[in-house]
Amino acid sequence: MIQKIIPVKGLSGTIKIPGDKSISHRSIMLGAIAEGVTEVEGFLMGADCLSTVSCFQQLGINIQETANQSLTIEGRGLMGLSEPKDVLNVGNSGTTMRLMLGLLSGQSFYATLTGDESIRQRPMKRVTQPLSNMGAKIFGRKSGTLAPLSVVGQTLKPITYHSPVASAQVKSAILLAGLYANGETTVIEPALSRDHSERMLSYFGARVKRDGLIVSIQGQPHLVGKKISVPGDISSAAFFMVAGSILPDSELVIENVGINPTRNGVITVLQEMGAKISLQNEREETGEPVADIHVKTSQLKGIKIGGDMIPTLIDEIPIIAVAAALAEGKTEIRDAAELKVKETNRIEVMAKNLTRMGVRVEELPDGLIIYGSPRIKGAEVNSFGDHRIAMSLAIAGLAASGETLINEAECATISYPRFFEDIKKLSVQGGK
Ligand code: S3P
Repeated sequence: MIQKIIPVKGLSGTIKIPGDKSISHRSIMLGAIAEGVTEVEGFLMGADCLSTVSCFQQLGINIQETANQSLTIEGRGLMGLSEPKDVLNVGNSGTTMRLMLGLLSGQSFYATLTGDESIRQRPMKRVTQPLSNMGAKIFGRKSGTLAPLSVVGQTLKPITYHSPVASAQVKSAILLAGLYANGETTVIEPALSRDHSERMLSYFGARVKRDGLIVSIQGQPHLVGKKISVPGDISSAAFFMVAGSILPDSELVIENVGINPTRNGVITVLQEMGAKISLQNEREETGEPVADIHVKTSQLKGIKIGGDMIPTLIDEIPIIAVAAALAEGKTEIRDAAELKVKETNRIEVMAKNLTRMGVRVEELPDGLIIYGSPRIKGAEVNSFGDHRIAMSLAIAGLAASGETLINEAECATISYPRFFEDIKKLSVQGGK
């Protein structure tokens, strides 16, 4: 689908964005292996999370939609999953693939996981190797490092793993496998990645110990089904934080957004760039901090972004790059080589697309240098099937002169099914 974007003067009003993708995935996975019913509200009905739902249905779990964005999961306990009769398809979802590899490693059956063209190119050794150290038997293309991947469930042993990457998917895969090992499994990260697994595992009754970059889990716990209220996804809210900052006539309230400190780097960075973003009504819901975010038009300036902050905003770099394109001066993003192994190579794809929109961009091996300018021009651009690229380019298009055509824009449904409708609803007409 080609999506046309017409420039607007601003985005104004109140918006409730869809549920957090990371938390939604985990609610299905932990709900499935807990005992008793888990009730989830605010679940993200995006394509990625629906892939997780269908994989767990194939593993014998009863999951019912009870209302708009609400689900119940009939948990069957740690050893209650059953062998799937067919290949499990994770679609575009790296979280589904990597976390399920951990979970399936300790079962007593065989399962095969595959996904779309993007997922079949993404690196899986980062999880299959530590899982093999625990005794997992995983087979696949390129010596078991690329999907499709088959898992033959085994008795696992606990390990201590020094992860070379700050990746919540790696950490979570090992912790989930650790649930099946007899003893304590430990992961040590180079920088702190998102901690939703640790929070939700504790909430379900697992014994999780945390000390800075070290997290340990005690195997074979008794997990109990819970009620979960999924906050709005800060990664989706980020598109509105940036639009509300760069468009001249904007004032937005984004309600009920998760502001977990391992995810909220985008707020810090935008504030440092000069954005008028404030948090209201801060509270905690089912173990996760939540707030309403207020944003209004401001003049942004370029800054340097890098170091341990990168994992806290890794998924927001494409939209931060759009903010940088409209800021005054130069923005340098470094230490973000992980962007090359996301749904697309996001360094290359953002550089290519922003260049088409008349922005001066330099590609670095681990980031981007963006030279801001008050004028960017509408152009024909391509998401290459990457949801966050499609939505970032849409926001750039709102601030450009002339119209923008986004190829392969339908992929926004992966994390934000009604994104283009929501933009339309909030639009203040009359752009450049
Ligand atoms: C996620 C972790 C991150 C993130 C992804 C979701 C998760 O990936 O980019 O969108 O839910 O655990 P990595 O673990 O590869 O950094």
